[in-house]
Amino acid sequence: MGKSSKYSAKIPDQHGYISYTAEEDSVWHDLITRQMPMLAGRACKPWINALEKMRLPVDRVPQIPELNEVLEPCTGWNVWPVPSLIPFTKFFGLLADKKFPVATFIRSREEFDYLQEPDIFHEVFGHTPVLTDHRFGAFIEAYGKAGLRADPKDHAMLARLFWFTVEFGLVNTPEGIRAYGSGIMSSPGELVYAIESDLPQRKPFDPVDALRTPYRIDIYQTVYFVLDSFDQLFDLAQQDLLKLVGEARRLGMHAPTFPPKAA
Ligand SMILES: [Fe+2]
Repeated sequence: MGKSSKYSAKIPDQHGYISYTAEEDSVWHDLITRQMPMLAGRACKPWINALEKMRLPVDRVPQIPELNEVLEPCTGWNVWPVPSLIPFTKFFGLLADKKFPVATFIRSREEFDYLQEPDIFHEVFGHTPVLTDHRFGAFIEAYGKAGLRADPKDHAMLARLFWFTVEFGLVNTPEGIRAYGSGIMSSPGELVYAIESDLPQRKPFDPVDALRTPYRIDIYQTVYFVLDSFDQLFDLAQQDLLKLVGEARRLGMHAPTFPPKAA
């Protein structure tokens, strides 16, 4: 959200289809075939089941209409093409309308392992599976509606709640802690680190605590929040998120657990 990109948006045709080059399709192929074997023992079962529902192609970049054909009957959600990064108000407005914004470009080979901004692999592989789950869908919709009502000074705080759930969330399962957050699911390195490393803190999810926790976008996370189950997100969707923001603001930010970004 809110800065320039070296990638340019891919504009869909009148039927919603985007033309990708053979090289772009091959980048998708290599990303998805690298990530699939990483999921066992690290991604939670509901996430893996949801991924299966999406029936993502392996040999080419998926197209928006085919994603919506799966999502719409499940939860009424759609994906919505946007240029790379969008302002908060547009972001909240789309979510409130059950449209999940997806950047349509795919990363270049030079940034195959890591890029700071979301590309279509992150958006589709990382985000769309959970949009088939009504509990997740309800939370993201409520989040968007809260964002539209929020004072702009609270946007960054609300972004933390999204970050520590939708983007970098973990969940307790009978088999142990597993991942569901899109930033983890679309990164082979962070998927292993988030589940297996002794370095990060893994705290029980508490929304006010998450709202008060700083993060950096350019390093593996130093703190993860662990849900009991996706039901917790559904319950959170029934609460007044802005009241929680007010509570977090009153209590103040936690100290960072990471070094400052080098200038
Ligand atoms: Fe994301």
